[in-house]
Amino acid sequence: AVHGDLAGRRVVVSAGGTREPLDPVRFLGNRSSGKQGIAIAEAARARGAQVTLVAANLEVAEPAGCDIRRVSTALELQAAVTEASRGADVVVMAAAVADYRPATVSEAKIKKDQSDDGLTLELVRNPDILAGLGHGPHDGTLLVGFAAETEPDDERILELGRAKREAKRADLLVVNRVGWTEGFAADENSAVVIGVDGEIVTRLHGSKVSVADGILDVVVSKLN
Ligand code: C5P
Repeated sequence: AVHGDLAGRRVVVSAGGTREPLDPVRFLGNRSSGKQGIAIAEAARARGAQVTLVAANLEVAEPAGCDIRRVSTALELQAAVTEASRGADVVVMAAAVADYRPATVSEAKIKKDQSDDGLTLELVRNPDILAGLGHGPHDGTLLVGFAAETEPDDERILELGRAKREAKRADLLVVNRVGWTEGFAADENSAVVIGVDGEIVTRLHGSKVSVADGILDVVVSKLN
């Protein structure tokens, strides 16, 4: 990390996990804590960037010195990221976005039915926010995506990451393994950064703070 190497740059980071409401008291969510995204926002700030953090249901404290936009659902996150990304130098999509949301949100708390022993929920697809940015006009904005995979095999995880980078037209894709104990809530992370030719740009291990700086080292090299 070089002090001030992101000075004058505008960086947008999404972090956390979306919640998709079912009724006034329930939601479908995921186990993303927001730690890795927040570490990236803080590291970018420390390197001189002007940072907008689009924060979805963080489980950790909000970082100082960032412009914070709080959102909850995927659609809210899409609106905030799309707006903030206009004219940005870098967009890092670290948030875990729900692929589906309940087709309808009940006005009242959903009740158990005495005669039923199950309930079927109908879900509809959420927009892919990163793919939307990648496929739209985004001149001069470097797009960084994440892929959290549960596959045990490293080669398979890389393959999935390469396919995702291409499908979403991201400039960089950070791949890491998640599971019951690794990834989301942990303080440590291991990640591989994939570039536009599917090449491994770098492998990163360590605290989420050091992984954040490693990702930003690659970002800086692509900006210049
Ligand atoms: O397809 P998958 O969810 O694995 O892709 C992960 C990457 O895409 C992350 O960068 C995530 O923030 C982004 N994403 C998105 N909109 C979605 C789902 C994922 O921008 N609906």
